[in-house]
Amino acid sequence: MEEPVIDAQGLTKVFGETVKAVDSVSFTVRKGEIFGFLGPNGAGKSTTINMLTTVMRPTAGRALVCGYDVAKHPMDVRRRVGVVPQEYTADEDMSGRDNIVLCADLYGIPRRESVPRVNELLQIVELQDAAGRKVGTYSGGMRRRLELACGLINYPSLLFLDEPTLGLDVQTRTAVWKYIRALKVEYGMTLFLTTHYLEEADSLCDRIAIIDHGHIVQIGTPAQLKANVGGDVVEVSVQESQPDLSTELQAIPMVSSAKQVGSGYRVKTESGDEVVPQIMDTIRAKGLHVTRISVTKPSLDEAYLELTGRSLREEESDRMSMMSQRITMRRARS
Ligand SMILES: Nc1ncnc2c1ncn2[C@@H]1O[C@H](COP(=O)(O)OP(=O)(O)OP(=O)(O)O)[C@@H](O)[C@H]1O
Ligand SMILES: [Mg+2]
Repeated sequence: MEEPVIDAQGLTKVFGETVKAVDSVSFTVRKGEIFGFLGPNGAGKSTTINMLTTVMRPTAGRALVCGYDVAKHPMDVRRRVGVVPQEYTADEDMSGRDNIVLCADLYGIPRRESVPRVNELLQIVELQDAAGRKVGTYSGGMRRRLELACGLINYPSLLFLDEPTLGLDVQTRTAVWKYIRALKVEYGMTLFLTTHYLEEADSLCDRIAIIDHGHIVQIGTPAQLKANVGGDVVEVSVQESQPDLSTELQAIPMVSSAKQVGSGYRVKTESGDEVVPQIMDTIRAKGLHVTRISVTKPSLDEAYLELTGRSLREEESDRMSMMSQRITMRRARS
């Protein structure tokens, strides 16, 4: 087995005497994975990133990042990782290009190396045309892409993204996902991201850790997390109500339960798509006629609800409105 890119064991951060922001989290991230921390406000996502990127020292526990202990060899870790923080860091009065050059300067990259690198990065995030414009004139999506470019300045093999699409509309969010996926596919990069958007975690992440009150409640692929809820539901309507085939349907491998409802059936299974043909065969073999069949997939929101007792969707909309208020206030101030 290849050594994990991140190996955190019992990682803990206590603020002051009592605030346990991160409470003994353990997980590993494999090379080339997109690993997501999904959780609500104040769950401890940013604090975890801060410890893994050596911005904050863990109170307890241990973390190896790219093979180096964050507490003992912070410089070795820093050289290998990139970070795109939750808050915007770019200077609004400078152009996009100058902002990236500044990032390179901060990393001590000489100009003769950084200038061609900056052009390459501008191309990757498709900001070449806007590169000379002041960042103050950029849209939210453009700003996020600029922050992404800054995070990539030192050719990291591991990139941390703290809420990469916070406050973006759905369409712009999808565009940012495209860049993130490209980093994995084209550059073999490992990505660690935090999010409280279910769709983001679902469509982007290979594996997700659901974090709540500083604890990891569950780790798995999106499919595994959803399967925990109890799997898919296949609803099938049959023209004839007799004979009752629930026993036969129940006998299909991977079917966990089958109940007759009216003249049809409600079948629970871990994999609806695989079971549908067998359900059809079973019913037809008895000379009966299927009139309708549908598969309902459990959503990640249901999985989240099951694990934490709360729905993330409500928080999502609360935060969206909070974000837009904040942007409006910032505009009013400037
Ligand atoms: N520097 C700090 N001093 C004291 N408490 C802090 C500090 N930073 C974070 N906290 C607290 O630690 C907890 C976790 O915060 P953190 O920022 O890690 O959450 P998060 O999951 O990133 O939340 P969000 O989704 O709002 O970004 C919160 O209760 C927060 O108030
Ligand atoms: Mg945060």
